[in-house]
Amino acid sequence: MIHLRSIDLKPAARRLEGFPFELPVVRKFRGVKFGSPVTFLVGENGSGKSTVLEALAAAVGSVVVGGEDVRTDKTLAHARALAAQLKLAWAKRTHRGFFLRAEDFFNFTRRVNQTSAELEGMAGEFEREGLKGYGLRLAQGVVRGRRPRSRRSASSRSSRCSRGWPSRTRSSSSPRTRPS
Ligand SMILES: Nc1ncnc2c1ncn2[C@@H]1O[C@H](COP(=O)(O)OP(=O)(O)OP(=O)(O)O)[C@@H](O)[C@H]1O
Ligand SMILES: [Mg+2]
Repeated sequence: MIHLRSIDLKPAARRLEGFPFELPVVRKFRGVKFGSPVTFLVGENGSGKSTVLEALAAAVGSVVVGGEDVRTDKTLAHARALAAQLKLAWAKRTHRGFFLRAEDFFNFTRRVNQTSAELEGMAGEFEREGLKGYGLRLAQGVVRGRRPRSRRSASSRSSRCSRGWPSRTRSSSSPRTRPS
């Protein structure tokens, strides 16, 4: 389904000065209708594709993956200024989706690595705090996103699965405890 039907520019925006209003793509903006689920923006380097996309992300209030909030990111001040001059027509307003730039991907992977290191640190703390045995494996499994490893062999695990236990791939985020 196409949620955003079209974008247009308020007439007054064509009279504003400075970046990004003086870019030809803004001066000559004639509106865009989104008629298919995927849109390609094609243009020379420096023609303003990223600027338009950033303004669209700001106008929509997109989540920026791995980056700073689109409403506060200083590097997106120009995008917010242009966004304020955009008119969006929605077929169905949505807050799903996200804005991902190459530089955000770098931040995203850095944040994933950082979170992963923090969780691994927590897994170590459980041990230092004296947790042992199945309780330790269960707690570590939660932060590592894995089911605790059973002492039983893989074959007995598969027989447990056949009796209704979740398989290894069924859910890594909600480990179950054994019945007592
Ligand atoms: N913060 C800024 N202040 C002033 N000018 C800028 C700023 N950011 C970009 N520009 C200029 O605005 C123009 C459009 O840049 P933009 O990055 O939107 O182009 P682009 O079409 O995405 O280019 P590319 O194909 O290289 O990704 C370029 O001339 C660029 O130098
Ligand atoms: Mg670009």
